[in-house]
Parts: sequence; C-alpha cells; structure tokens
Amino acid sequence: MTAPMGNRHTARARRHWVFGYGSLIYKVDFPFLRRELAAVSGWERRFWQGSHDHRGTVEAPGRVVTLVPSPGTVCRGMAYLIDESVFEHLDHREKNSYRRHEVDISLAATDTAVTGVLYVADEGNHAFLGPAPDDEIAAHIARASGPSGSNRDYLLQLANALHELDAPDPHVHGLAKLVQELTADGARP
Ligand code: BEZ
Repeated sequence: MTAPMGNRHTARARRHWVFGYGSLIYKVDFPFLRRELAAVSGWERRFWQGSHDHRGTVEAPGRVVTLVPSPGTVCRGMAYLIDESVFEHLDHREKNSYRRHEVDISLAATDTAVTGVLYVADEGNHAFLGPAPDDEIAAHIARASGPSGSNRDYLLQLANALHELDAPDPHVHGLAKLVQELTADGARP
C-alpha cells in the first residue's frame, strides 16, 4: 500500500543537506542518507575560531576552522543528506558559537545545486580569535589540546582528508606544514 500524499511530503521536508568543511568531512559520527563531494561559493575556510570545548580549554583555547565570507572564492568539502533529527546531534557537537546558515551547495558528481546549511562561527562571537600570521597560528595549534585531543591532530586530520578528496586548501596545508616542522619529533600521528 502506498503512503498517503501528505505523509510523503512530510517525509521529504524532513531531509536536509548539510555542507561539511572541517571535522564533518572526516569525523562522520551521524547517520546520513547520501554523501557527495561538494562546494560552496563565497566562503573560505580559516583557523580563526577558538575552541574551548574540543581542541583547547577555556583557559587555553585551541584554533579550529570556521568559514568567512569571501566573494569569488569556492570552498570544497562534503555534503550529507540527513534526516532533520540529526541536527540535534550536530547542533550539540558544534555548540561553541556555530550557527546554521542556509546556502546553495553544488554537488560535484551530478553538477547540481541544492539548498542546504553549513555551520559558521561568525566574527564577534565570544570565542572568535580572528586572523594572525601563519607562524603564530601554527605555534598556537602546535601547543593546544582539549577533551577531543590535540589541536595538531585536528589540523593534520583535516589536511589529510582534504588531500584524499583532492580538494587542496593552501591555508590548511600551509599550516599543516608549519606545525609538522614545529613538532618534527615524528612521535605523534
Ligand atoms: C564542519 O566540518 O563543517 C564544521 C566545522 C566547524 C563547526 C561545525 C561544522
């Protein structure tokens, strides 16, 4: 027996695309219906957000990525089609001042555009650290750690994930090189 029309519409409305550009690319601890390489225009990835709860502490925050507006720039990442119920988990995981923004997402495989959301920690939130010279950001990341692990591992996992997606990001890979030089004992993953 087919579902009544009303139910089918309800089911469809409960699905949403989410664009991941940071840890959502490589730490997929949530259910999804589809996953596709994707991009958003007008944003760039920057290690400008302080992390009090994952890769640092309130006393010594780490630095994690947010997106900043950048007309003409394309940011590549991963899009997930999720059920609306998954937002509860994502909102909690990214609770340190990240807010949902509605955007157009380009899905690479099918060259189609969909409406979806991404999480942004806007300039001016209480944990925002903003820009700094790359060597300062790298030194900061090299020494920070928090309940989710070292800030260094967060950066290197992201750099590795972007490399595997063939989606290089000069900001991320430049910092990864600097941090590896600063921590060149080779003892840590
Ligand atoms: C992401 O991977 O898309 C993401 C990064 C930081 C906060 C929330 C989401």
